[in-house]
Amino acid sequence: MKKIAACIITGILVVQLQAQRNITVQVNRPLTPVSKQMWGIFFEDINFAADGGLYAELVKNSSFEFPMPMTGWKEAKQQGSGRILIINRANENKFNPRFAHIVVDAPAGYYGISNDGFRGIGIHRNEQYNFSVWARKTEGELTMSIQLVNAKGDKIGSSSIENLTGEWKKYSVSLTTVDSAHRGKLNIVLQGKGMIDLDRVSLFPQKTWKDRPGGLRQDLVQLLADLQPGFLRFPGGCIVEGRDLSNRYQWKKTVGAFEERELLMNRWNVEFARRAAPDYYQTFGLGFYEYFLLSEDIGAAPLPIINCGMACQFNSSEVVAMNELDPFVQDALDLIEFANGPVTSKWGKLRADMGHPTSFNLKLLGVGNEQWDEQYIERYKLFEKVLKERHPEIKLVAAAGPSPDGARFDYAWKEFKKLHPDFIDEHYYQSPEWFFRNAARYDSYDRKGPKVFAGEYAAHNKEEPQAESRNTWLSALAEAAFMTGLERNADLVQMSSYAPLLAHVDAWQWRPDLIWFDNLRAVATPNYHVQKLFSINRGTDVVPLLYNGLPLAGKDSLYASAVIDQATKQLVIKLVNAGEQSETFNIELTGIRSLGKEAIVDELYNNELYRYNTLDQQELVHPTQSRMPVKGKKITAALKPRSLTVIKVGYNP
Ligand code: AHR
Repeated sequence: MKKIAACIITGILVVQLQAQRNITVQVNRPLTPVSKQMWGIFFEDINFAADGGLYAELVKNSSFEFPMPMTGWKEAKQQGSGRILIINRANENKFNPRFAHIVVDAPAGYYGISNDGFRGIGIHRNEQYNFSVWARKTEGELTMSIQLVNAKGDKIGSSSIENLTGEWKKYSVSLTTVDSAHRGKLNIVLQGKGMIDLDRVSLFPQKTWKDRPGGLRQDLVQLLADLQPGFLRFPGGCIVEGRDLSNRYQWKKTVGAFEERELLMNRWNVEFARRAAPDYYQTFGLGFYEYFLLSEDIGAAPLPIINCGMACQFNSSEVVAMNELDPFVQDALDLIEFANGPVTSKWGKLRADMGHPTSFNLKLLGVGNEQWDEQYIERYKLFEKVLKERHPEIKLVAAAGPSPDGARFDYAWKEFKKLHPDFIDEHYYQSPEWFFRNAARYDSYDRKGPKVFAGEYAAHNKEEPQAESRNTWLSALAEAAFMTGLERNADLVQMSSYAPLLAHVDAWQWRPDLIWFDNLRAVATPNYHVQKLFSINRGTDVVPLLYNGLPLAGKDSLYASAVIDQATKQLVIKLVNAGEQSETFNIELTGIRSLGKEAIVDELYNNELYRYNTLDQQELVHPTQSRMPVKGKKITAALKPRSLTVIKVGYNP
């Protein structure tokens, strides 16, 4: 059906032929339930996502345990002199061998040390900060001042510690700030003459997520919570594997007393020479207990991924000998006990001692990250055998390798169809064109094998061949088109997550990422808004949406899917117009008695495909919401060029 739309632009009569397209949504014909885990999040400590990001500790290398023990630290002095020595007492203290020994001669001015955090310390004005340090004065008379300073060195918060004793003791003070700083510093300066030992220096904002001491950055967790994610995958990603086995993620070393969590180099420290981060380490202040707690806080099912005896196949390809895999399988069993076991069990007790006697309700477990080839299948088999026997209640996730097709991918699927993983984790870091082209990828997938977990995906589009991809509107639009295909195939694709999740603007290794932040602020990308619009409009069941009797998956650059929420009796239609022209849809809703009087319409669009949000311009690509009157059982939807439109309306079945 065609109509003639006429409009006058600067005195010239433009006659446009505009197609009106007819769509039918069969509201009373639920095709398949949408899993509660359909839209989730993938967390990996990459781009300073944990230390320097989500984990709110502001002091870098707080215990002088980085291989270069003064990393992050500098001498601080004013009319005073002294020296700093790093002392190692490895036999006495296995987990924390080093401390700073400071000789002070500053009767008039001061002498001490200064920490510059993670590319500076972010300090908010009029906020409280909690400082603590382990110290012992070994000689003389000294007083200690704690100062927060801005980049110019102006003091914007201070406090002091007196009565220092000769025994190791933890001192805590809080500071209130009078100004903010993006790249501030923490000074610990001493006045007098004497010697002092310092260790475990810590500075946290008082305001953390749920005000937990030693907790997580409030603004970042809020952004995650706002996504209403169905699951939280952790701790990655390649970080699970390590560059070699010694560098792999070992969850047992990340739980229990923080003081006993051993520092480990972050593999992204050295991965990309062009984005080297020599100061990137894992303190595990955000460890497995905290990941489980975070999952619970934001209502997401926990999805830990464990190492299956394989280091990164892009790096060393080191594998554990088959006859030495038992401890790795045991780690998986113990993890289930840690998450779900009774408080009388060894690992359940540890969970209770850490503050969570009740179960974390673990139901999903990934065996290996992005592994491939025979060496993976043979190791996976061993895990599956034990885990399925001992824990049939836990759903297992196996990996299809690093690409969405090709020999490794086909081999993985062929082998896994002979085994019993519940999900196959597919990864796609591809061009926007790939995402548009693949909106119908799952329409014809074999339904007899395991379910699909679209575990890592992001559209990478390079503005120039050499440039790194950004979170452009084009990339987000392509993902939205693809996600209508995931939703339409919700019987098969039951989990999905964009990756990676977080990136520090001054310390990233991988781009694009869902959320960007600096030391004070965070910005949601267009991709984030797409994820959110799908997630918060998840519905309970997919219903047929037909254009000329077929799904709409790329015809004339148009994509669509529809769900209903059986509990709230709401219909949600998601429409992507990737074309350059506006489009009008006449949507006929069948199988219902009536519709609500108005629909809520969320729109995300931009004419500039390469536009992206920044910390200073956060809303260049941002959803808008409006209300649209509805008459009868039809909706007319006007889609802007290059837009995602989500229409929500109540119905009477
Ligand atoms: O998301 C970044 C990396 O991409 C992950 O660590 C890895 O699994 C994939 O190769």
